[in-house]
Amino acid sequence: MKTRAGGQPEVKALARSPEIRAIFLVGFMGAGKTSVGRALSRRLGWEFEDLDDRIQAREKCTIEQIFATSGEAEFRRAEHEALRELISEPNFAPRVVALGGGTFVHNANLLAEGGFLTIFLDAPIEELFRRCQEQAIERPLRRDLQQFRELYEQRRPFYLKASLNIQTGGKQIEAIAAEAARCLDFKQK
Ligand code: S3P
Repeated sequence: MKTRAGGQPEVKALARSPEIRAIFLVGFMGAGKTSVGRALSRRLGWEFEDLDDRIQAREKCTIEQIFATSGEAEFRRAEHEALRELISEPNFAPRVVALGGGTFVHNANLLAEGGFLTIFLDAPIEELFRRCQEQAIERPLRRDLQQFRELYEQRRPFYLKASLNIQTGGKQIEAIAAEAARCLDFKQK
């Protein structure tokens, strides 16, 4: 784990670097990557992008359909291509990007090589499961709590490689976004 609230000096320095044009939110399903990502982008005055939206636009079908008709391996291929496209775009406006729950696990090298800032949003597994239950989003990789927990435990060591680690359990979206901005030492709007 690299840091917690307050941010380590090297994370702050990286965040201030003019090279940094994208911050990636990583974490399990239900971590709040999209909602916190939107709130953080508003604070920074940056754009927001959800990688799942880019995948759906490129593949011209929903995530659910990709899983149902072609399986997870095909979804991972589409996800990898979409991420590669995003980070290869020349001169894109600075943005906060919400990744899917498996993106960082399957593409950690791609993001590490690019020197991108990554923020792991974590929460207790029961809360992650409950948040997903409350959302009207179909998640092919969320079945019962036991399976959900096992997948989370497999992935957590990868998530912990992110530049920052923020505990979101019991916190409001704006409070989490404020904490992330503080850790990065960005000027708050
Ligand atoms: C996935 C999470 C989903 C989506 C796809 C696969 C995963 O995104 O990318 O269903 O592997 O955990 P969210 O984390 O936004 O639900």
